[in-house]
Amino acid sequence: MMRQPRRSPHDSYETETTDHQTETETILLKHLPLSPDSPSPLQRDSHLQFLIRNLIQGFPSRYISQDASQPWLLYWTLQSFSVMGVALDPNNKQKAIDTIMAWQHPDGGFGGGPGQAAHLLPTYAAVCALAIVGRPGPGGGWDQIDREKMYKFFMSIKQSDGAFLVAHHAEVDVRGTYCLLVTVHLLNMLTPELLEGIPGFIMSCQTYEGGFSSASQPYFSAEPEGPILLDSPRPPLGEAHGGYTFCSLASWVMLQPYLALQKPSLQRPSLNFKTLLRWLVQMQGSEIELGGFKGRTNKLVDGCYSWWVGGCFALLSSLGIVGAHGRDDNRESSTAHEEDESWDDIDDSLWDRAALQRYILCAGQHPAGGLRDKPPKAADSYHTLYCLAGLSAAQHNVFLSSTRLDAIVHGWRTPAECKHEQLRQACFSHSLSWTEEEGTSRVLGAQNNRMNATHPVFNLTMTHTEAMMAHFYKQTIPS
Ligand code: FPP
Ligand code: ZN
Repeated sequence: MMRQPRRSPHDSYETETTDHQTETETILLKHLPLSPDSPSPLQRDSHLQFLIRNLIQGFPSRYISQDASQPWLLYWTLQSFSVMGVALDPNNKQKAIDTIMAWQHPDGGFGGGPGQAAHLLPTYAAVCALAIVGRPGPGGGWDQIDREKMYKFFMSIKQSDGAFLVAHHAEVDVRGTYCLLVTVHLLNMLTPELLEGIPGFIMSCQTYEGGFSSASQPYFSAEPEGPILLDSPRPPLGEAHGGYTFCSLASWVMLQPYLALQKPSLQRPSLNFKTLLRWLVQMQGSEIELGGFKGRTNKLVDGCYSWWVGGCFALLSSLGIVGAHGRDDNRESSTAHEEDESWDDIDDSLWDRAALQRYILCAGQHPAGGLRDKPPKAADSYHTLYCLAGLSAAQHNVFLSSTRLDAIVHGWRTPAECKHEQLRQACFSHSLSWTEEEGTSRVLGAQNNRMNATHPVFNLTMTHTEAMMAHFYKQTIPS
């Protein structure tokens, strides 16, 4: 007998939103596999060809607004290669390194193209691209990164409330905080001065829904006669969204060693994990057995949220919020409202890893190569990476090893001990403590569909992360 595909619940009041939802489900229905365990196979070769074509062509002229995203295009392409297990030859690597180094700003940080102003987002993309293709030594890119100037650039855009402008004279956005934190972790540029206030800013971006918005109202308003102190707590600005939620949660994970080294106090910033988990779970579309994620309430599923939202579950498990190996030992020491909740009965079954793989493989793959938001849309490099990274997140149970985490924070709770060197060592170990137990991956369909595991915080492979960090942690911290 034919299975009856599930549709999302619907009251009889029709709106534009319900129409779009119904239209999307009707299209997705046509992409259901004949059997739930046999999704469409991953078309590796055509995705590789698509990525190469797209990179060579660059952005078409109608995408002039994307001119400032050149580092992103390169990072999306290179990281897609990495999750598919493809390495570049030395010639192409060198071309990529030289291209990236032309984006470095003379006053520190990277811009979106040659001669463009430094900005936190392309800085992350350029540094991650260098993690993939670069190397130490002359011409290798790594030692040509001006960390002293980059650090000064970061400090120059830091705000008194822990937020960062994404560039000089620009706006605050939690994506910038994430990009900055990844960069300082990879390049050994962490200082307590740089991190001060970030946890409070992240906390202030969480909305009543549980997900995070892009920013929050600042502590101070800039008036001509001087800054005015605003009421606290700062309300979030805007709607909870999967992209900002990933950036906030990944930032929170990166801040764990810093928070663990702080004096325990009632004022310590905390997140509401109960509402966050509920919101994340509700972003998974359960309709018709293709379990893609949406990015916000009452919107549609989209392949890129496979990473931005699907990737949040590994982050939560590292904080002891959802089940994973080492859950009991790994629990973040919490403030009162977090301790009220018992998470013992919550585990991985909260999100459907098989259904997400089905969405990516059956609806996400474009027949002409590349991956996409949803059918019948065209593929692009952004969606190709975040669909593949989401596929990887669904297949691998990468968790933060509790033994190593215990060792990091053990005995370091005295505030006087929160020194540069301890913070630096703690962040180094914390970033490299992610691991996957042999033989625990859950690949849907043929083994050819298997992706490499990717670092749940940085979205780089462990090999690339370890090599870059090992190099920079031998060097001194800029100041
Ligand atoms: C809405 O697009 C999209 C946003 C409001 C921003 C999304 C942010 C990210 C994806 C995070 C990026 C992360 C970094 C590190 C740069 P939309 O209205 O087209 O999509 P929607 O309907 O799915 O919300
Ligand atoms: Zn998308």
